[in-house]
Amino acid sequence: MPLNTYSPSTMTRSLAKHVKVVEVGPRDGLQNESGPMLHASVKANLIDQLAAAGLTHIEVAAFVHPKWVPQMANSAQVLQLITRHKHVSYSALTPNMKGLERAIEAGVDEVAVFGAASESFSQRNTNCSIAQALERFEPVAKAALDAGLKVRGYVSVVVDCPYEGPVSPSMVADVAEQLIDMGCYEVSLGDTIGTATPGRMLEMVNVVSQHVPVRQLAGHCHNTYGQALANVLMLLEAGVTTFDSSVAGLGGCPYAKGASGNLATEDLAYMLHGLGIKTGIHLDRLVRVGQNISDLLGRTNGSNAGQALNGQAC
Ligand code: HMG
Ligand code: MG
Repeated sequence: MPLNTYSPSTMTRSLAKHVKVVEVGPRDGLQNESGPMLHASVKANLIDQLAAAGLTHIEVAAFVHPKWVPQMANSAQVLQLITRHKHVSYSALTPNMKGLERAIEAGVDEVAVFGAASESFSQRNTNCSIAQALERFEPVAKAALDAGLKVRGYVSVVVDCPYEGPVSPSMVADVAEQLIDMGCYEVSLGDTIGTATPGRMLEMVNVVSQHVPVRQLAGHCHNTYGQALANVLMLLEAGVTTFDSSVAGLGGCPYAKGASGNLATEDLAYMLHGLGIKTGIHLDRLVRVGQNISDLLGRTNGSNAGQALNGQAC
């Protein structure tokens, strides 16, 4: 069916009834804050508030080199200070065995390895080639699974790379497939610099889903060009039912100059709820969390829905 003939009634019939939202604000959001590192208690408080707002998957930390991402240096303390909820999975990035060891010691429920679909981005982000990164991830995934942890995979720059330009969907498919083969239960597809438009996103996911079942794919859309919600909707129509987002649209990527934060979780929840899709998120509570952290950081709230609903009953 040509895309422009969709009406809301035909769309909602074919969309998922429930979507899993992975809140990445405490990691993807805060990793990019300039200035002194946020105190671990501030981060832990944010994470607790997100759990209280109904988020069940929260990426809380990154066990990466503190020299490269100074804001994540207190990741272990953050995990210590969180009030754990049984229904919440607390995850962290682990680029190598050293990161995994630190994450296990800190008591994460889940870890994520992060690869890229372009050589230049891989080098800048993880100081190694795509193949070397995947080679490093294998023992990390195995050891994490042996320790009873779930392992998630990321592929960055799935549409455009800030250094190389357009990225071939087959490259994305290849990296995603290797991540699944090493035991990742899900692969999150990152539009790292937020340049993707829905048609290109669809083209990419159509190729990737020939190699990885669509139920194992997630969307991770940065909102630099304001395309993130449109891209999510396109991925939803393609059958993706897991999306990453960041409260108040916090963040960016330290290795992708100019990239803005992820899609705001408030905006994602507002759209999904409007389509009759359940997320488990209490939007009214989340809006307060988003405004609180924006005020605390002295930033404009990056969520449109958050700004509109702030102070209103919603
Ligand atoms: P490297 O320098 O190649 O590592 O860094 P190395 O193995 O050569 O070791 C060098 C030194 O680093 C050694 O210390 C290691 O112990 C130490 P020394 O002997 O010199 O004292 N080291 C570590 N320290 C703490 N934790 C560790 C660790 N590993 C080694 N885990 C590495 C390789 C990957 C660690 C580094 O390049 C790094 O930390 N990069 C940061 C990458 C990052 O966090 N990027 C942002 C997150 S990804 C992202 O935002 C994209 C995403 O959101 C999706 C999207 O939007 O597309 C996920
Ligand atoms: Mg990201």
